[in-house]
Amino acid sequence: MKNKKYKVAIIGYGVVGKKRHSIIKTYKNLRVIAVSDINVKALNEINDDIKRYSHYNDLIKNSGCEIVFISLPNRYAADATKIALNQGIHVFCEKPPARTSKELTPIKGLIQTPELKLKYGFNHRYHASVLKASEIINSNKLGQIVAMRGIYGKSKIISFDQSDWRSKRSEAGGGILLDQGIHMLDLMLFFAKEPFKKVFSIVKNDFWNHDVEDNAYALMETSSGVVAQIHSSATQWRHKFNLEIILERGALVFGGLLTGSKSYGDETLTVIEAKPDEDKGMPKDRIYKFERDISWEEEIKEFINAVEGKQDILHGTYDEAISTMKLIEQIYKADKLWAKKYYNS
Ligand SMILES: NC(=O)c1ccc[n+]([C@@H]2O[C@H](COP(=O)([O-])OP(=O)(O)OC[C@H]3O[C@@H](n4cnc5c(N)ncnc54)[C@H](O)[C@@H]3O)[C@@H](O)[C@H]2O)c1
Repeated sequence: MKNKKYKVAIIGYGVVGKKRHSIIKTYKNLRVIAVSDINVKALNEINDDIKRYSHYNDLIKNSGCEIVFISLPNRYAADATKIALNQGIHVFCEKPPARTSKELTPIKGLIQTPELKLKYGFNHRYHASVLKASEIINSNKLGQIVAMRGIYGKSKIISFDQSDWRSKRSEAGGGILLDQGIHMLDLMLFFAKEPFKKVFSIVKNDFWNHDVEDNAYALMETSSGVVAQIHSSATQWRHKFNLEIILERGALVFGGLLTGSKSYGDETLTVIEAKPDEDKGMPKDRIYKFERDISWEEEIKEFINAVEGKQDILHGTYDEAISTMKLIEQIYKADKLWAKKYYNS
């Protein structure tokens, strides 16, 4: 429908809920009509023309919204998604899509018509460095991917004086790998364009001593032979995002990432063109530096275009979300001690 204005609701008005609101406000065809948070203080900042709800259930059933943005603790993500889809409401849900793949599985059957949209928030796909790398990989200029090595880490499980749900298995489902490493695994799956079949891992929680992991190390291989390594860490005292993609005729090196905290450093992509017979291991490179985090606005733009029927959901589909969740569980279970402790296997 031309010039339609969508009624939008946000559930969970913490760090990300507020961030989403600031972006949604910039869209002329979106109007936030309702917000829900069980913490009444979080709702103090909301304008009077926006309806306030405590529990998300009330908002979804009674606000009359057509689109909902879900930014709740992981424990509620699948439940809120389910209730909203059952009401025929378009859903944008932050990662992780659920605590477990089992919790996520029933969601697929609820996308009953192609017009009803569900998108998961994997905003890293829309970072300018990732878009540039994807363009280079797809051009085949540097050949096929041989291997990937990634480190994504922060210095604690709980940041920004937030509540402690991230440190509890019952609330979060997992630790740093599910919370932050999920973005890098999603990028690895996106670049590899195929699942990882072979997975080895070490998963630990003996530094922060929560019942979720504070470090996860994995070595993985796809069926066509692309090898990837990841270290997802909550003991990375200087925050770090670093991903190296080795291709047949060069490499792409991500250094830093522009985020709200600015603690991951400048966002750069170094493009290396290798001529091993001539360059003596010192190939030419070109460094691209990106000045702005465009990921949040680009991600919402794609979602709204899909809701309006202008395009499909390209990133953060249900199928991608469940593949990433299954890979995370493969990593957890590949460590025999971790599997015995938390999966009875
Ligand atoms: N894409 C990204 O890069 C990114 C970054 C950070 C967080 N996230 C995800 O966003 C989600 C929220 O994270 P956050 O950092 O904003 O957490 P947060 O703790 O700051 O916010 C969660 C909010 O939900 C509220 N809440 C809890 N139970 C509720 C209920 N039953 N009904 C209504 N509100 C309720 C809390 O009071 C809190 O204000 C998580 O799933 C997280 O993984 C995504």
